[in-house]
This record gives sequence, structure tokens and C-alpha cells, in this order.
Amino acid sequence: MAGADPPRIVVREYRRADRPQVEAFRCAPVGERWCEAAEKIIREAPADIASDEYMAGIAVAADGSTVVGVVVFGFETSPPRPHELVIFSLGVLRERHRRGIGTRLKEAVMAAAASDTNTVMAVLSRVHRANYRMIGLNDKLGVGKVKDPEDGEYLLTAVVVEPEEAPQAGE
Ligand SMILES: CC(C)(COP(=O)(O)OP(=O)(O)OC[C@H]1O[C@@H](n2cnc3c(N)ncnc32)[C@H](O)[C@@H]1OP(=O)(O)O)[C@@H](O)C(=O)NCCC(=O)NCCS
Repeated sequence: MAGADPPRIVVREYRRADRPQVEAFRCAPVGERWCEAAEKIIREAPADIASDEYMAGIAVAADGSTVVGVVVFGFETSPPRPHELVIFSLGVLRERHRRGIGTRLKEAVMAAAASDTNTVMAVLSRVHRANYRMIGLNDKLGVGKVKDPEDGEYLLTAVVVEPEEAPQAGE
């Protein structure tokens, strides 16, 4: 691991003031087209969130006023599957890779899903089979993966959402 995630990093909802940074976000190492695709989704998310009914949200990891990570999520569209929360893209600033920031963002989406089990039953994602960084992150979190039956270049991941335990009386 290159260095610990400084405790000052906060994961929070995207705000309008983040827009210029998100639209210019650079997370893709040069020459890795699957990462470039993830970067493009992030850059377009501020515009898409207003018009795309299937996009549920954007969360950012912020170090003070600097956006160092972004996750874009929504729902399955074809056919519409509102019980499946899909991570459309997850990226961390290139110079901040490998400090646990991506893990915190993915965990934040899973935690949000767990607190909304009336709607969400699984968190899904799709990752290129050569994207060893994202595959490593998922493996570390224990996220299961299978080959995408529609495109062998990709893996599908899924986490079944377990409801959070309600606090017992007296706790
Ligand atoms: C994938 C990505 C979001 C990971 O974010 P990150 O903050 O760097 O990841 P983390 O520091 O949380 O890494 C968690 C684990 O993933 C694995 N991992 C991450 N980067 C790795 C690398 N370069 N080499 C090997 N394993 C790696 C490791 O197991 C790591 O744990 P460790 O550091 O304790 O060994 C980041 O590399 C990125 O922005 N990539 C470009 C965009 C992209 O491809 N997004 C995914 C497609 S949606």
C-alpha cells in the first residue's frame, strides 16, 4: 500500500460546487481504456444526474475542498430493476490511488444500500477483466464476481444487501 488514507478525507454527497472538479476529474492511468470509460462516466455525471432518471446519486471523497474520489450509482435500466443498485463508475484521483479512498467510496454505497433495504436488495457493478485495481478492491471487500454472459471482456460483481440490525430496546 502506497500510504494511508489521511483521516481528514470525508465521504459525502456531491454538491453543485464540486461540479468543475468532477467534470475535469482524472482517475485513469494513461492507456487503460477501461479506466478511461470510468473517467468519462464520472465527468458526465453532473450533467446526467439532472436528466437521467436511472441515475440515483453521486458521492465524493473530499480532502478539504479537493474532490479526490467519485462514485456514480443508479439503477438497472434494461429492464428497469429498482431493487438493484448499480455502481456505474468509481474513480480516485490518479495521484491519490492506493490509499484506501476507493474502498471507502464503495463501502459508503454498500452502507447506503443496507440502510434502504425496502428498495435495494443488491449492489452490482461491471468491471473489465484487465482492471486489476478494481478487481483487487472488490476482492479485498469479498465481493463475488462472474464473467458477464453478454461480454466476456467484463466481470459482473454483486453484493447481496443484508438489512442493518435494528437496535434492541435498551441499547
Ligand atoms: C479502481 C480505483 C477506484 C481504486 O481506488 P483506490 O483508492 O486506489 O483503491 P484502494 O486504495 O481502496 O485499494 C483497495 C485494494 O484494491 C487493490 N488495489 C488497488 N490498486 C491496486 C494496484 N494498483 N495494484 C494492485 N492492487 C490494487 C489492493 O488490494 C488494495 O488494497 P491494499 O492497498 O491494502 O493492497 C482506482 O484505481 C481508479 O480510480 N482507477 C481508475 C478508474 C477505474 O478503473 N474505476 C473502476 C471501474 S468502475
